[in-house]
Amino acid sequence: MRVGDTHYRSIWHDADADEVRIIDQRWLPHEFRVVTLRRLEDFATAIRDMWVRGAPLIGATAAYGIAEQMRRDPGDTALENAWQVLHATRPTAINLRWALDAMRELLRPLDPASRAEAAFPRAAAICDEDVENNRRIGQHGLEIMRGIAAGKPIGEPVRVLTHCNAGWLATVDWGTATSPIYHAMEAGIPVHVFVDETRPRGQGALLTAWEMAGHGVPHDLVVDNAGGHLMQRGEIDMVIVGTDRTTAAGDVCNKIGTYLKALAAQDNGVPFYVALPSPTVDWTVTDGLSEIPIEERDGREVTHVPGKLADGSRAEVQISPDATPTRNPAFDVTPARLVTGLITERGVCPASASGLAALFPEHARK
Ligand code: MRU
Repeated sequence: MRVGDTHYRSIWHDADADEVRIIDQRWLPHEFRVVTLRRLEDFATAIRDMWVRGAPLIGATAAYGIAEQMRRDPGDTALENAWQVLHATRPTAINLRWALDAMRELLRPLDPASRAEAAFPRAAAICDEDVENNRRIGQHGLEIMRGIAAGKPIGEPVRVLTHCNAGWLATVDWGTATSPIYHAMEAGIPVHVFVDETRPRGQGALLTAWEMAGHGVPHDLVVDNAGGHLMQRGEIDMVIVGTDRTTAAGDVCNKIGTYLKALAAQDNGVPFYVALPSPTVDWTVTDGLSEIPIEERDGREVTHVPGKLADGSRAEVQISPDATPTRNPAFDVTPARLVTGLITERGVCPASASGLAALFPEHARK
């Protein structure tokens, strides 16, 4: 998508320099920084420390991490080690394992001498597939938004609540939850987005709000606890969120706080959609609550808040008593029964085993 007048993806291989570059998201929205990732450790650090984040982008970054490692050491042990190192970075988003498996499956049977040459095009294809999946998600989601717009007085915006950042920064391009929004804007459908700030890391406040502003999407930043109130007052027409892992039965794991939005949506009759490319489905699990590992992050994210001071410098302040004990689960699971529909690259389906199997019969359990 656009940054100023320039089109960017969140990760790319610079053909002239033969280097992999990312937008370093730790600095947004206050600074736009691009960094080059060279060694396996750079890729692992970028994922673990959230220079890149968002399930599809984590997968794409891991794919290029394998490719770079094959340049340095294309042997079997190095390939296996790279898979393990990258897989250990973050536990919840299944796109990570999906991309690592796709790379390993391609590379293992090859002569080590030809692995690097094969790895880069495969990583590029993973990126291109993500962009195309998200474009299609946008088209299918657009039809839902068109339907909602048709039921409103002409000119009144479709009011969407979203949580975390499932935008283009979380994918290679377009985003998942934001793709229908960008497509609606292009189609001339008025839209208004309510952006959950998404404590503790503030992906909504920092990243989604930046994306919305960058593309001229009317929006309001709201605190995480405002969603239920806005729904009760009839100020939200639909919720669209992304997901880090959705089970074969349609349970949706996403950024902490998503479940509470789904409960409020159901209580208020607000449709709750989840936008996802198929690599985000974990076809091996059916019970989201017991089978998905939930990342627990550093308690400092809870006790401290980073931000920008008036002079433009960055600072971090402590907001709780010294040494306050914390819990910091980064994701939660929304049971399928609370999800109105899954917006995938192949269309919209019920959040259920049969709904997913109808769209993706090749994955249906025998
Ligand atoms: O911890 P993060 O920022 O990686 O979490 C991201 C999310 O929860 C997104 O909603 C999810 O990955 C979907 S991205 C299209």
